Amino acid sequence: MGLFTFGSSNTSLGVDIGTSSVKAIQLKKTPTGPELIAYGMAPLPHAAVEEGNIKDPQTVAAVIKEMLKNAKIRPERSFASISGQNVIMRFTKLPVMTPEELEQTVRIEAEQYVPYAIDEVSITHAVLNEITEEEGGGKYSILLVVAQKELVNSYTEVLKGGGIVPEVIDVDTIAAINALENSIMQTAGTQEGGEVVAIIDTGARTTNISVLKSGILMFTRNIPIAGNNITQMIMNVMKQEFDQAESIKLQEAEVAIGDTGGNEIADVVKNTVEELASEIRRSFDYFKAQSREPLIHKIILSGGGANLKSFNTYLSNELGVDVYMGNPLEGVNVTVTDTDMLYNNLQQFTVAIGLALRGVQE
Ligand SMILES: Nc1ncnc2c1ncn2[C@@H]1O[C@H](COP(=O)(O)OP(=O)(O)OP(=O)(O)O)[C@@H](O)[C@H]1O
Ligand SMILES: [Mg+2]
Repeated sequence: MGLFTFGSSNTSLGVDIGTSSVKAIQLKKTPTGPELIAYGMAPLPHAAVEEGNIKDPQTVAAVIKEMLKNAKIRPERSFASISGQNVIMRFTKLPVMTPEELEQTVRIEAEQYVPYAIDEVSITHAVLNEITEEEGGGKYSILLVVAQKELVNSYTEVLKGGGIVPEVIDVDTIAAINALENSIMQTAGTQEGGEVVAIIDTGARTTNISVLKSGILMFTRNIPIAGNNITQMIMNVMKQEFDQAESIKLQEAEVAIGDTGGNEIADVVKNTVEELASEIRRSFDYFKAQSREPLIHKIILSGGGANLKSFNTYLSNELGVDVYMGNPLEGVNVTVTDTDMLYNNLQQFTVAIGLALRGVQE
């Protein structure tokens, strides 16, 4: 404890260890709402993180440490996440009960979904909604979240190596929803019976799809098709190394709309994006059948993959749904001076913003 430490900490750091890069956002709690006071982003070497597992802990820890130093971030409260692809998320309904009873019941309920020994997993839950008397009454709608302890520990260890002690390890899917809450709620309730919104977060390795009704999460799924698939295709077709293919993608890739385009890269991109769109459609169909919701009113995009040129137009045409870019800084006052990297990569900061918000919301 330093001589000039006053009261409790009022800053909150969100750290997102993605496949392609590490992102950090530091927010400060103020009477007029959260203030963004620092941020950082640093690329990870290819294959340091694979399938949401940290393959090279030393390198990732060193990258985090260097990023914090460059961004002049001094962590106080910190929040991090693991990837949605490595957790089991299930929706269930349980009778209204005390928090202690709920804790017990959730464990028993979760056991049936867990393909591992129960003492090897951490189980958490979130109460999404209380079902009113008219709708059947006396029940909670619950999200169960199950992750392997070993995986959670590996993230905690790496973060510790980078100089961060996380208070909570969240799931990136949930953090992205948290960051986009204001974007979602802006128009919620304008639809009769509640607006149905899908959040599609396309990263380097995975695409997380979440569907919410009136702001309440109802469906989530993870698809292993994202930015790296396009890069991989460019590598194969154009006989390039990963880094070259990645920069070709960033400079030239575009989703062809209708019969326009037609060069080599456009064809490569189209293959992957078509595959992704049809997986999204399949998820939507499943959601609609299961929830008896006839319509998805809008799609909000996040993650680096959302920046792919014409991806939004293509998705909107394919799925017949309006597509918007998410604004994870809705309601956040940006006071940091150099904002270029922040706004140029805003979609990629969504998860880190959602994580940092945890520490300034209560
Ligand atoms: N302008 C752009 N055009 C096309 N793709 C882009 C653009 N900007 C970023 N990307 C892609 O976005 C991906 C990185 O996004 P993001 O940082 O959200 O992923 P990640 O968190 O590292 O990965 P994951 O969440 O899958 O583990 C990369 O595949 C990158 O090529
Ligand atoms: Mg990500």
